[in-house]
Amino acid sequence: MRVAAIGDLHVQEDSIAPYRELFTVISGHADVLLLCGDLTNFGKTSEAEILAEDIKSCSIPVLGVLGNHDYECGQPEKVAEILHGAGMTVLDEQAHEIDGVGFAGVKGFMGGYGRGELAPFGEPIAKLFVDEAMNEARKLENQLRTLRTERSVAVLHYSPIVETIEGEPEAIYQYLGSQRLCDPIDRFDHVKAVVHGHAHHGTYEGRTPRGTPVYNVAQFVVKPLFGRPYALIEV
Ligand SMILES: [Fe+2]
Ligand SMILES: [Fe+2]
Repeated sequence: MRVAAIGDLHVQEDSIAPYRELFTVISGHADVLLLCGDLTNFGKTSEAEILAEDIKSCSIPVLGVLGNHDYECGQPEKVAEILHGAGMTVLDEQAHEIDGVGFAGVKGFMGGYGRGELAPFGEPIAKLFVDEAMNEARKLENQLRTLRTERSVAVLHYSPIVETIEGEPEAIYQYLGSQRLCDPIDRFDHVKAVVHGHAHHGTYEGRTPRGTPVYNVAQFVVKPLFGRPYALIEV
């Protein structure tokens, strides 16, 4: 299966059919299109409606997750509903299967990696913050557990590893993802690839500790490499 993936679309309310042509091109080159969050710039319904129109021009299945920008107006469920109405499968609680390949996805959250990882210690607000990352990891694990496919792809907005955010200032690493997202991925042999966005200045390719390939498909990372804003991954 040829999987196209793109993150960080950041559709704005003054955009005119910003992805229509691209989605038509992608439909000719891939079997599935994955959208890796920050689909809108501020999480406005007007932005989501513009993207929804473009999604309708896609003739292949479209799946994906929301990003932090899609939460900005406090109505992520409305954004998801509009995109769902256009035919996109918004992954969050439930995995999805297409032609024998599984797709599990969550937005993920921040929290850092290795020695820089925030621990659930002290003030309730610090614990709450860490809880959010743990919850996202748990949702991903639950989805991956339900899949009976030999191959699956994990779809995220935040990064599960450091390698694919390298290029960003080290001071903000902890806001670009969480190592906790890595545990569920490495627990299941059927996960063959991970795609994420969010780190606009990160690195295209990395691997989890167990060796599963991870791709940062933020369009700003992919375009300078391939001359097109989307990644093509064989699964
Ligand atoms: Fe972004
Ligand atoms: Fe983001």
